[in-house]
Amino acid sequence: MTSGHGIDPARVDALLEAETARFEQCHPLSRQLNERARASMPRGVPLHWMANWPSPYPVYLAEATGTTLTDVDGNSYADFCLGDTGAMFGHANPVVAEAVREQVLRGSTTMLPTEDVIAVGEQLTRRFGLPYWQLATSATDANRFAIRIARIATGRDKVLVFNGKYHGSVDETQVALRDGRMVPQPGVAPNAVDLDHTTKVVEFNDVPALEQALAGEDVACVLAEPVMTNVGVVPAEPGYHDALRELTRRTGTLLLIDETHTISTGPGGYTRAHGLDPDLFVLGKSIAGGVPAAVYGMTERVAEVFLRYTAKDDYRISHAGFGGTLVGNALTLRAMRTTLEQVMTDDAYRHMAALAERFDAGVAEVIDQHRLPWHVTRLGARVEYLFSPRAPRDGGEAKRFRVPRLEAAIHLYLLNRGVLLTPFHNMALMCPATTEPDVDIHSAVFAECVKELVS
Ligand SMILES: Cc1ncc(COP(=O)(O)O)c(C=O)c1O
Repeated sequence: MTSGHGIDPARVDALLEAETARFEQCHPLSRQLNERARASMPRGVPLHWMANWPSPYPVYLAEATGTTLTDVDGNSYADFCLGDTGAMFGHANPVVAEAVREQVLRGSTTMLPTEDVIAVGEQLTRRFGLPYWQLATSATDANRFAIRIARIATGRDKVLVFNGKYHGSVDETQVALRDGRMVPQPGVAPNAVDLDHTTKVVEFNDVPALEQALAGEDVACVLAEPVMTNVGVVPAEPGYHDALRELTRRTGTLLLIDETHTISTGPGGYTRAHGLDPDLFVLGKSIAGGVPAAVYGMTERVAEVFLRYTAKDDYRISHAGFGGTLVGNALTLRAMRTTLEQVMTDDAYRHMAALAERFDAGVAEVIDQHRLPWHVTRLGARVEYLFSPRAPRDGGEAKRFRVPRLEAAIHLYLLNRGVLLTPFHNMALMCPATTEPDVDIHSAVFAECVKELVS
């Protein structure tokens, strides 16, 4: 008996069981390391998400170069997860690796700017349009700082986000809509912040809901991915971005666009490709080729507020808080400059998009062949398949379309055959080192997996 997603749940359970056993057989050393690491780190991992793969314990990495990972048991993988975008431009990129090596030997962190600041600032302005930039260590932090500036600039407290979003572990964005009401996201301390005071949440693509939420003129900024990517891919409907910009302007609300994932669209992100005009802009994860870093950009008007707020105060000690001690250090700047100038090139994007098209076609063929009510969608170098016949309209619908056990079974089947997808959803990213054979391995293994599920 099949469900709405076209697969018999009993087959999913059977596949998951068989694949778990196969995983354990092929990963004895990872199991040993996990058992030892559990004695000093919860679940044996330094970041709890690393335990969230569909396997009973994580694969422990030995090495990652280009698009290939090798684990401690000697298994290798074509990597389409790419560190959930952190390694979107490939692992151990030789150009970045050499630049980092050189800079480490010349000093990493000194509280002094280096000349690279000019090249980085000019590159960011050319690509994304905003005139002024600052650095942060992560996209989470960049969003936090951008929200803070928006609050100072507008004198308002609230941030508006979309149901199903993820913008990092920023407390006041950790909300969801349940039966039309804002609730803390599961797994987040409900008492972390007073959400009624700090946050509003509406569904993406719902212009009347947005209009109503902004009408009170109490929202400092709307924080949005231009296409939602953290709940499956939810594209913006035609005209939605125009409405978003018009409504934010009309109500004196700042618009903060988070391109951390949608930078897959092209060298200037979705913002340049679609002519968006945000007041604030955030990009993290991949921007320094794997060195922890993020940037936030701002308009001239917002930069004036930033300058006022961070002004030197007659040589007094200032704890005015944007940043962190290691932010924008020499090492980060060198890695970012190298990535922007030599890695995130038009040619690299052309290559990545062509492979993503090939990946998309491979998945679509299997879906068509078995007449499954699934679809596949592409955002430049990023491809995602969902167990629904069409793209979700908003985060609420995307959550309803999710089938976690089916997703886990497919991921584990792929992993056991040397293909790695991003654990929390069916997302695949291409990097400059990805090859046609990498993509074709995925297509073949995905086809075998689906055949087993439907047979
Ligand atoms: C759109 C978006 N913004 C921000 C973040 C936070 O990035 P980081 O965890 O590197 O701080 C994420 C993480 O997945 C993200 O998807």
